Parts: sequence; C-alpha cells; structure tokens
Amino acid sequence: MKLTTIFSALLSARLVSAALDEKIKTKGKKYFGNVLDLNTIDDDAITDILKAEFGSITPENSWKWGAVQHVRGTFDFTAADMIANWAIENGKLLQGHVLAWHSQLPSWVHRIEDAEDLKSIIETHITTMVGRYKGKIDSWHVVNEVLTDSGDPRDSVFYRVLGEEFIDIAFHAAKAADPGAKLYINEYGLEVAGPKVDALIALVERLSARGVPIDGIGTQSHILSGTLKNYGAQLQALADTGLEVAITELDIRIEEPVTPEKEEQQAKDFKEVTKACLKVEKCVGITLWGVSDNYSWVTSVLPGLYADPLLWDDYIAQKAAYDAVDTALD
Ligand code: G3I
Repeated sequence: MKLTTIFSALLSARLVSAALDEKIKTKGKKYFGNVLDLNTIDDDAITDILKAEFGSITPENSWKWGAVQHVRGTFDFTAADMIANWAIENGKLLQGHVLAWHSQLPSWVHRIEDAEDLKSIIETHITTMVGRYKGKIDSWHVVNEVLTDSGDPRDSVFYRVLGEEFIDIAFHAAKAADPGAKLYINEYGLEVAGPKVDALIALVERLSARGVPIDGIGTQSHILSGTLKNYGAQLQALADTGLEVAITELDIRIEEPVTPEKEEQQAKDFKEVTKACLKVEKCVGITLWGVSDNYSWVTSVLPGLYADPLLWDDYIAQKAAYDAVDTALD
C-alpha cells in the first residue's frame, strides 16, 4: 500500500472517530457548527469535513440582506436555498444569519428616512426570509452588531430612523413568521468585561421587560489570540440574563508573523473557549467561522496583519488548535 493511501486512510478514520459535534452532544450541548457558502460548497475537502465533524450550518454570506433582496421587493433565494438544501440533505441544523444588520445592506435601505416606510421594509424582509425557511431553522440572528465598541447604540439607518424600537420590530416580525425558531441578538466584542458587555446585558433586560420575544445571545467571538481574560466569566454573565447563549462565529486569529509559540497560545485559547461553553449550562453550542484558514474572512480582510484563525490550515490539515478543541471535549 502506498504511503499516501495509508495516510489518507488514517486521516479519514480520525475524522470519523473524532467528530466534534458528536463529542459536544455527549456533554449535553446541541451542536458544534460551522459555516458554508458558495465559496466552499463545491470544495469536497471542506464539505467532507463539514459532514464528518459538524452538526450545524450557518450560511456565511448568502442569507444577508444584500444577497437576498438587493433590489427593493425582489427576492433572490438561489444561493440561499443552495446552502439551506445542503444543510437539510446532510442532516444538519441551520442557524439563520442574519436579518437586521447595518452591514452588507443594500444602498436603497440606507437611504430610507421615513419611519413607517422603514418599519414596513424591515417587516417585509423578515417575514419573507423567516417565512421561507419556517420550521427548518434552529435559531435566527435577528439583529446583529447593534452596539458600538463602547456600548452605545450603533449609528445605523435602523437606529437613526426608528430608535431602539427597530429591534422590537425585528423580533416581533421573526416570531410571527416562525414561532418555533430561537431568536437571538448577535454581537461581537463580548469576550472581555467592559462597557460593551454591560450595555448588551442592559439592552437585553430592557427588551425582555417589554415583552420582546428574545431567546438567546450570540457572542460572535472573533478573538485575537493571547487577549482572553477569563472568557468563561463573560459567557456566564451573558447567561445570567436568563437567556440561552451560543458562541456564534468563533475564530482566533494570530498576529503576523505566525510562530510555533503563537500557535501554541492559539490552541490554549481554543481550549479555553470550548471549556467555557461546556461549563456554562445555558451555552447551547459553538459555531466556528470557517473550516480552513485559506477560506477565512481574516485572511482576506486583514491580510498581512493577522492569520490562521481556524482549526484546519491552508492545506486542509488539522492543526494543534483542532487537537485542543478535540481534547477539551473529552
Ligand atoms: O460575492 C462577491 C463577489 O462577487 C466578488 O467578486 C468579491 C470581490 O471582493 O466579493 C464577494 O463578496 C464578498 C463576500 O464576503 C462573499 O465572499 C465581500 O467582498 C466580502 O466583504 C464579504 O466578506 C464577508 C463579511 O462578513 C462582510 O461583512 C465575510 O466573508 C464574512 O465572513 C463576514 O462575516 C461577518 C459576519 O457576517 C458578522 N460578524 C462578523 C463576521 C466577520 O467579518
């Protein structure tokens, strides 16, 4: 037998025996997930890993407003359906990303100034999107990144025209369209204590107090390796609101130049985050924001500054970070 054949046999045996999703489920969690989109759906190396290792799919880009309703009133679900169908055919949960987000929003939405008009636009978008996948979605990221780094309301068209009430409108529309899906607020920068975490918790408490149907908090967790300061305490603080929590977009980037020491630190960071979800009862699952480094947004958006944020490398080989997550789940 050729050496490469033996090697690939060993590799696939390992893929099957070490499925992260199976392991996290034995710890009482719902899923270990990952993203899929048009850039990876035809890459067998990636989809084989998704099939073997992950139990949930989040569409990375194809469900965003600009992708499905680029022109007002015209919905195009071609790409969105491809991702949904792949997930369903392969028996994966689906996490809906994303409904009301200031980014990747078409310019016609940015230009709306009338409150009634914007309310109706939000309702139409959410009713159509959520309605299309009714009964097939585990959770929806209903609003995304509504706070600035200092915890102030983000200056988006939604907030400028409707104030905080745009959040209520979005959640009520999503609830009406699919009462069975869990509805999340999703946010970045919640990994360390500070004004943003405090503001997010206060916002969630206001929403709950006025009867907004919110079920969960998603902490994106785009982390710079070496910067964590008791991630578990922040996750617990989010869970103390009484809502469920999920780690929705995990990646841990390394500052260039990448060294073996930095990779070791990254593995430790992945272990800390994984352990935190296991420890916090209300943490339902973890989603990684990509399978392999070569497909990560980090490499394309921040080239030369940061690199290698995922569990598989550019050549789709497992990294020390994979082993750290795998053993954290034992
Ligand atoms: O689809 C076009 C393609 O037609 C064109 O040729 C190409 C040229 O640049 O661009 C393609 O669009 C890119 C898109 O990803 C799909 O690949 C956009 O330029 C690029 O900006 C976009 O980046 C995405 C980013 O969100 C946009 O804000 C990343 O892939 C995606 O990982 C990232 O995900 C976000 C979450 O949604 C929210 N939280 C933060 C997270 C990381 O930024």
